[in-house]
Amino acid sequence: MLLSSAAAVGVAGLRLTDGAATPVLTPSPIVAPLRPAAGAVVSLEAAERTMALPCFGGKSLPLWTFDEASVFPIVRVPRGQALEVAIKNSLPRADEHITLHWHGLRIPNAQDGVAYLTQAPIMPGATGRYAFTPPETGTFFFHTHCNSVDHFGRGLVGALIVDGDEAQASDADLILMMKDWRLDAGKSFLPFTTDEGAAKAGTAGTVRSINGVTNPVYAVPASGNIRVRLLNVDPARISEIGLEDADGAIIAVDGNGCTPIELGTWRLGPAGRLDILMRAPKAGQVAQLVDYFSAEPVVLARFLAEGPEVRHDAFTPAPLLTMPFKVADRSAAEHLDFTFSATATGSAVAATAAAGGDALAIGKLCLSKRTFWAINKQPWSSVDHSDLGPPLASLKLGRSYIFELKNVTPNAHPIHIHGHTFEIITSNLRDLPSVRADTVLLLPKERIEVALVADNPGRWMFHCHILEHQETGMMGYVTVT
Ligand code: C2O
Ligand code: CU
Repeated sequence: MLLSSAAAVGVAGLRLTDGAATPVLTPSPIVAPLRPAAGAVVSLEAAERTMALPCFGGKSLPLWTFDEASVFPIVRVPRGQALEVAIKNSLPRADEHITLHWHGLRIPNAQDGVAYLTQAPIMPGATGRYAFTPPETGTFFFHTHCNSVDHFGRGLVGALIVDGDEAQASDADLILMMKDWRLDAGKSFLPFTTDEGAAKAGTAGTVRSINGVTNPVYAVPASGNIRVRLLNVDPARISEIGLEDADGAIIAVDGNGCTPIELGTWRLGPAGRLDILMRAPKAGQVAQLVDYFSAEPVVLARFLAEGPEVRHDAFTPAPLLTMPFKVADRSAAEHLDFTFSATATGSAVAATAAAGGDALAIGKLCLSKRTFWAINKQPWSSVDHSDLGPPLASLKLGRSYIFELKNVTPNAHPIHIHGHTFEIITSNLRDLPSVRADTVLLLPKERIEVALVADNPGRWMFHCHILEHQETGMMGYVTVT
């Protein structure tokens, strides 16, 4: 959808205290949920589409998206409903193949969407199909799984919401896709990767956005309980999320309901999702979603309370319904160590911090040119993907494991496992709440213990979700048999 016409997006021309006329989005025009009826097939088409997102400051850019109607399509189904997706690959580059990975969903391995590991890639012109019933409720997303730095950089991401977890209905439900864009002064794309970024913290974007808008305003019902689903779909951004001028509680981490945690701030890495229940302020007042990670806090989005007050009670967020996960038997669990390190090449490149970047030249076999990172000294991509080499670990179906995730680098790494979720146990650096997560942010030099039940058979990727790290070696797989 092009946002050229104010009328098309319901712009109210509202004046806020900062004096700037600001469009109020009700809801965001960028996020148009696709709600397939039972039995209907969701059709997506990966293609280049020129769009003028509000955060591009009037310029149009050749985005790669999954859908004609919105930059980030939202697929939304109730729990228990089977989902079938047809995805056509119309990307404009020769050999640019795709697969769809359903991040965070514990679905059968054949539907997990990893080129070569779980399926043959979908070549340009071809259509692939996915069919599964999401086993749990929550806030998830989907993306391709090869050349992802380029794909995410151009916007090729969507969200999957599985409904049915609210014991007490919220009064509004907002889906916020947080992503930076790499634009030069003339507002074309900058290169999505640099050697310095790939060997250090990842290459940062230059323009921040929520749903394609820098600092949008959402109208919310006054004094209502607002569910804010924040998805970090940036390739590299680490943020420290908090709320101002409203009370809020974390009700889910990576889509998994938890005992509500009063929201002070929460460090959210790439691929992390945070469901916040916020009590909206009184009519006419504005609450803000803020990133405190850098010295100067950044307002990510604002919520303008409107209409009659919907609630008068004290704010006591109800927990989401719990899902029937198998809980790991920690006393019987086998311990496995995973060390996340830089390779000699990676350390050398990080030390010289040279500009430019040619480490990532991902061809059709999904191999990078050089490897900067490794897991247990094994850098990914050093082998032909049609013959992947040994797994990082072989797990026994049904057994419990404790993984010790050790970061021996000066950078943070959001570590993601496919097909399973981790129970977070302890960190050597901070008090972490016992939540369930599919992506665990490891801070520099941090060691985190997590438990899991290997209850989903197959070959599962296990990697850093700073995409330049993933593609320069910090990736591997485990088997469950
Ligand atoms: Cu979003 Cu391999 O993952
Ligand atoms: Cu990393």
